[in-house]
Amino acid sequence: MSSENPAIAGAKDLADNTKKVLTGYRPTGRIHLGHYFGNLENMVKMQDTYESYFFIVEWHALTTAYEETGRMNQYCEDMVLDWLAAGIDPEKASIYRQSDVPQLAELGVYLSMITPVSWLERVPAYKEMIKDYASRGKDIATLGFLGYPVWQAADIIMVHGELIPVGEDQVPHIELTREVVRKFNNLYGDYFKEPQALLSEARRVPGTDGRKMSKSYGNTIDLADTPDEAWKKLKPMLTDPARQRLTDPGNPDVCPVYDLHKLFSPDDVLETVQENCRGAKWGCIACKEVLHQRLGPFLSEFQEKRAAIVADNPNIGLEVLEAGGAKVRKKADETIYNVRERMGIHLRK
Ligand code: TRP
Ligand code: SF4
Repeated sequence: MSSENPAIAGAKDLADNTKKVLTGYRPTGRIHLGHYFGNLENMVKMQDTYESYFFIVEWHALTTAYEETGRMNQYCEDMVLDWLAAGIDPEKASIYRQSDVPQLAELGVYLSMITPVSWLERVPAYKEMIKDYASRGKDIATLGFLGYPVWQAADIIMVHGELIPVGEDQVPHIELTREVVRKFNNLYGDYFKEPQALLSEARRVPGTDGRKMSKSYGNTIDLADTPDEAWKKLKPMLTDPARQRLTDPGNPDVCPVYDLHKLFSPDDVLETVQENCRGAKWGCIACKEVLHQRLGPFLSEFQEKRAAIVADNPNIGLEVLEAGGAKVRKKADETIYNVRERMGIHLRK
């Protein structure tokens, strides 16, 4: 990706393994293949390279889900357990949730005082999202939704995050954080660093309808699905739409099932899929069965790992969050002390 945009980390930035990586995820509960291959695989690699902060953004979830808070805590716990089963290691990465670090709200207040509303209103997708939700009968034109990028800036700079693994759509948020940091530093003296977006080559994980896999589309294959449940979703999954009959040659390059093959099947199988599909030598069900031969055991293995972690300590999810929260609260106290000092605000003993 372009290294001309200073908000996007280039090869040199990435090579610096003293950098702090930080990223937040909405509490969506049990994860699906899109989360696994889109984020988690990457997080597992990053925790070995950088000082890593992985946290759950309950407050951000409230911007759109303030009416449905009942399962929030369960979602946080479930998500952390899935992270652990996927190989996230609390000894390596700080794992926490926003609500355990109330200092984030204080920093958010200070940042909100120096952030012009016009900066927030021009964040792409801001107005569209409000319209989109309004058309479904939901009002998200709140102060919280407008201020969302400010709280995100607070999340990032509280622990001096430097590399922020996000999708392209989030780059404007990182740019805004950088602007807020510059303004803070100009007003109160150099303190915070400007973070950069870390755009990794996200692997394409289509859902069963061919669109991006997402809970809100109802097209997910979940890591909690048994192999049988996964097959029930895979069997009717969209394929190359031009391939109507067995005798029609297909094109794997436009087939979402082939995208899943690329995540699970080794090269020789991929070659066979190409041949059999383009040569109309097999039907799509046979092709999906070959995929399922690996997807099924992948799911079982993941579930066994998760069950073993929970059997070992049923409270592990909450304990990890608590320990991570305590660690980050200490750093947050330091940051808040420094911010108050620079801003001339009373320093509480
Ligand atoms: N805005 C992100 C999202 O919508 C979530 C998020 C909140 C975040 N705070 C963050 C991401 C800090 C990276 C860093 O998914
Ligand atoms: Fe897709 Fe496989 Fe069918 Fe080809 S044979 S269209 S790759 S499902």
